[in-house]
Amino acid sequence: MSIAPDVTEFAFDAAHAALAEQALAKFPPERRQSAVLPLLHLAQAQHGGWLPKAALDYVADYLSMPRIRVYEVASFYDMFNTEPTAPCQIRVCTTTPCWLMGSDAIVEACERALGCRVGENSPDGRFYLREFECLGACVNAPMLWIDDDYYEDLTPEKTTALVEALQRGEKPTPGPQDARKVSMPAGGKTTLLEV
Ligand code: FES
Repeated sequence: MSIAPDVTEFAFDAAHAALAEQALAKFPPERRQSAVLPLLHLAQAQHGGWLPKAALDYVADYLSMPRIRVYEVASFYDMFNTEPTAPCQIRVCTTTPCWLMGSDAIVEACERALGCRVGENSPDGRFYLREFECLGACVNAPMLWIDDDYYEDLTPEKTTALVEALQRGEKPTPGPQDARKVSMPAGGKTTLLEV
């Protein structure tokens, strides 16, 4: 694990400190360390999508945890970035069900629209593209996880339109990108057809 230092100090601002206290309130006082995942998420969100060493140390001290334990957690889970990344994270699921449903073409559409390869930031520094393992939305494959939202039932054309909308500063509606409701059958109802 390499940790790139870009700041020497980090502290939650008032809004994130309030959210951190909310997260801590879910655990018994003697189990403060159990809140390490939500606090790392908050620190990463505040710092623009990645965690500098100062933020890891801050979270460790906040929870009275050995710093090495927080480094271990941050480097174990893929959703935490310990290297500088662009603030908007675009993750393409490429595990078997999504791959069978065409995730290779979704990756290509993202790369073309963003002008960068998987694992890179876009040239304008706004987007970070990466592959991810199964995100638990296989029934709506293929799909993208963008910041905090899932975009599902994608085609290359819909993916391109989605990325272009983000580039224009818009916030596309999350969920299935076709007429389907959540994860109901793609062909419509098959039971309970009569009331
Ligand atoms: S394989 Fe893509 S969400 Fe499960």
